[in-house]
Amino acid sequence: MTDIRLSLAVEAGVFAVPETGTILVLRPHAGADLSALPKERVRIVQGFRPDYDAFAAAGYAVSPEPESRHDAAIVVLPRARVEGRALIAAAVASLPVGAPVAIDGARTDGIEGILRELRGRVTVGEVISKAHGKIFAFAAPETSVFADWQAQPTVLADGSVTLPGIFSADGPDPGSELLAASLPEKLSGFGADLGAGWGYLARAVLTRPGIRQLDLIEAEHMALDCARRNVSDPRATFVWADATRYQPAQRYDFILSNPPFHTGRAADPSLGAAFIRAAARMLTPSGTFWMVANRHLPYEATLRDAFREVEEVAGTGAFKIFRASRAAVATRPAPGRSASAVDRRRPAR
Ligand SMILES: C[S@@+](CC[C@H](N)C(=O)[O-])C[C@H]1O[C@@H](n2cnc3c(N)ncnc32)[C@H](O)[C@@H]1O
Repeated sequence: MTDIRLSLAVEAGVFAVPETGTILVLRPHAGADLSALPKERVRIVQGFRPDYDAFAAAGYAVSPEPESRHDAAIVVLPRARVEGRALIAAAVASLPVGAPVAIDGARTDGIEGILRELRGRVTVGEVISKAHGKIFAFAAPETSVFADWQAQPTVLADGSVTLPGIFSADGPDPGSELLAASLPEKLSGFGADLGAGWGYLARAVLTRPGIRQLDLIEAEHMALDCARRNVSDPRATFVWADATRYQPAQRYDFILSNPPFHTGRAADPSLGAAFIRAAARMLTPSGTFWMVANRHLPYEATLRDAFREVEEVAGTGAFKIFRASRAAVATRPAPGRSASAVDRRRPAR
């Protein structure tokens, strides 16, 4: 969301803030200035844990999934078209007919395409173009108008379930496949998958009988919901957390990761670097970190800062697999639970 577009839309009456009732804001990014809206009536839905935490810390009512009925809605358009459509359908489904729905998005996230699609279904009001994006609004129609936009799970060939917008929703990532194939059979003890996504890697590693427990640590609530369905092994636990801040109750014997490497559209190796430092902090002194990275991403220096032993153990032209051990973290924070949600319940089937 760009703050300037929202303020302009409210000032110009393009988005008419209702006199009473709640305003749903779907998936704003941390740092978005929502001060054009009455804070006590704003209900944020944000399933990405770092953004969720930022809004909660700023005193907003925030939940990972849409919960109840509202009186107006603002959708911040995500990058994935199918996910954007699903958010619009969810917004409309939470409103009475006629309530205002605003869509805010950057050109690079496809706001022009979604505007064209919406014009085929509803009457869109004035469009404000500003700061490389657009904001506009329409009156919520019957839910059925967007029934075909509602989020539909994809069922992969092996029966795994994914949802639009999560990483590798169309099938296992080749980097994760390579990491899974490179892991030793003897992995054992207490482990974690940092950025576990819909559970591909975790499920592949849980074939090892020596593993006592595997924590699937994932920031994206939707992805973790899929993992709960896809990983039925009772040794799996599901942790909705920012892996870069999470403090496990006990240090891990091994950690796996195919770390995230994008912020929006741009490659951002600092995310992977933060995962490497987090892994070093969370491992026992004899613990091992296994990681896959796109070959062009420069993680070697960070790995060598964080671990005394680092080896590239496998690779292809596209990916490299590292094994790192003997974490070189000088002062480690005492282990203890973070504010993250740890869920040991099995998924509803
Ligand atoms: C490259 S994907 C790997 C997913 C999965 N391990 C797989 O192999 O398919 C990286 C994952 O990290 C998650 N992620 C991004 N930032 C995160 C964070 N700060 N903490 C935990 N997970 C995060 C993303 O949602 C995504 O699912």
